[in-house]
Amino acid sequence: MTTLVTTVTETLRYRGKLGQWSWVFHRLAGLGTLLFLILHVVDTSWAAFYPEDYEQAIREYQSPLFTIGEFFLVACVVYHAFNGLRIVLLDFRPAWWQYQQRAVIYVLLATVIVLAPTFVLMLGHVTDFYGEEGRDIAGLDEIIQTQAKFAGGFVVILVGALVLSGIFGLLTRSTSGFNLSGKLEATMWSFMRLSGLLIVPLVFGHLALMHVIQGVFDITGSGIDVIGTDMVNESGKAVEFVGARWDMLVAGVAIWRVYDGLLLALVVIHGFNGLRYVVNDYAHTPWINRALNYAIVFGMVALIAIGGAALIAGVDETAYEIAKDITALK
Ligand code: HEM
Ligand code: HEM
Repeated sequence: MTTLVTTVTETLRYRGKLGQWSWVFHRLAGLGTLLFLILHVVDTSWAAFYPEDYEQAIREYQSPLFTIGEFFLVACVVYHAFNGLRIVLLDFRPAWWQYQQRAVIYVLLATVIVLAPTFVLMLGHVTDFYGEEGRDIAGLDEIIQTQAKFAGGFVVILVGALVLSGIFGLLTRSTSGFNLSGKLEATMWSFMRLSGLLIVPLVFGHLALMHVIQGVFDITGSGIDVIGTDMVNESGKAVEFVGARWDMLVAGVAIWRVYDGLLLALVVIHGFNGLRYVVNDYAHTPWINRALNYAIVFGMVALIAIGGAALIAGVDETAYEIAKDITALK
């Protein structure tokens, strides 16, 4: 905790060094994206397993609060991606470290250049949606109710991890935190760089489809073409949108399931390992460090299992029928 306070105060005191700020923003943007990702993968699995809840989740994505959050999310992903590319480049070309101040400015410029037209296009979707008369928009009370379940889930996982870590400490009398072997730590370092490179096209492609070409609002547009498929969302239900994408076959391969599966594995492992770096920087008390690391490993495995199970199960006829009957929501 004291290390966290020191980081904040020292960052504010240590003026003038852009590099320091780029590190802070990189970290915050990565953590912000990870928080969204956790909610998003759980939500998306509901398309397969709890169709009513998925319709409700998308309804909440289409509320003003999430719309503002969506702009922040896109900004986080774009900045983190460009800054991540800078880190990878300089790690492999140490001689270029002398240009690092300049590289930080290029990252900011590239971020602004990409975000400006993206935000204009996203704003177009936003004004089309909110400009239409008689929309029934999700209220804050609905959103708090859904998100409180997530907050409850986080607390349960943390308490469980603290108890386990306490028991482990008592049984083994261990005085150290959670450590990976040197070899595995080095592998994870390389994985962060390689996965970062692979994530760039995957996540930019995903965001282009869901924010720019179509918007989050088109997921529930009835009679609208489902992006990346040759199908139309007849019912205008979010579940049908996801089902159409996951059932799209190219040469017998469900390409969007493969795409989502790759994205899922890469971003979840990358994001949780990044969270591990942050935790290890600030949590030095052994049993708390161990507990937080247990929670990270559990979160990573659980999220891949949940997202993977939804991709394998897909959206079946029963889910379509259930979703079609939910008239109260829209
Ligand atoms: C508000 C912004 C976003 C929207 C509206 C959105 C929308 C969707 C939709 C509709 C799906 C269902 C499958 C499909 O159609 O391909 C999906 C799946 C997925 N999205 Fe997003 N997405 C957003 C942002 C992101 C971001 C930033 C990431 C990565 C950090 C991400 C990662 C994923 C993954 C991994 C899956 C597969 C989940 C699973 O396996 O069940 N999405 N997204
Ligand atoms: C879009 C492509 C991405 C690239 C090029 C990228 C690149 C990187 C790099 C190079 C690092 C530094 C690793 C290290 O210190 O060893 C990093 C850290 C991190 N990344 Fe990413 N990343 C990307 C996407 C994501 C996504 C989608 C998430 C969230 C799910 C994420 C979350 C994190 C976190 C939490 C950290 C740790 C930050 C820290 O230690 O300060 N990244 N990323």
